[in-house]
Amino acid sequence: MSLHLGRTHFGNPANAGNVLSKEQAFELFNSWVLNPKLQLHMKQVAHLMKCWAAEKLNADEATQWKWEMAGLLHDADWDQWPEQHCKKIIEELETSNIDPEIIRAIASHGHTHFGVEPETEMDKMLYAFDELSGLIHAYSLMRPGGYDGMDVKGVNKRLKEKSFAANVSRDDINDACQRAGIQLNDLITFIVAKQASVK
Ligand SMILES: [Fe+2]
Repeated sequence: MSLHLGRTHFGNPANAGNVLSKEQAFELFNSWVLNPKLQLHMKQVAHLMKCWAAEKLNADEATQWKWEMAGLLHDADWDQWPEQHCKKIIEELETSNIDPEIIRAIASHGHTHFGVEPETEMDKMLYAFDELSGLIHAYSLMRPGGYDGMDVKGVNKRLKEKSFAANVSRDDINDACQRAGIQLNDLITFIVAKQASVK
């Protein structure tokens, strides 16, 4: 279930740089998200976002946390309020005067659902990590060694198998790579390397 947000501007530019503390973010995360599988997905995406900011952008710690926070909270309302998915968390972060960059990234993580185009690098990477992270995790669960020895070839095979993780949109993954200007194989390699450590 999803809804078009009907707007393309989020938050107040005057709030640039405002973030939740880690404690505040996890308090929201733990009270809104009760499903352990969804919690893990959101933590995985958060970790990927942080690692990308650190390694690819040489971002400072404050910027890394902005990326991580966008990942950590992107599906925060999906568990308890699926009919308000995306709208509720965005409004919560706007009420808390959070940096518009973070709110925008969350609002654009599913542009076909929410009607918000990914524009910034943070937007595009959240969109790119979201679906592919889930497919790779599903693949790890069916492998005896989990992430150990997982390679790009194996992930590509699963991607071509339409019945595997059938709810994961292959079109969105390809679209996200194009928008972000990254090769699918590079994105797979990055996710496989980083995601295994998230429990
Ligand atoms: Fe997600």
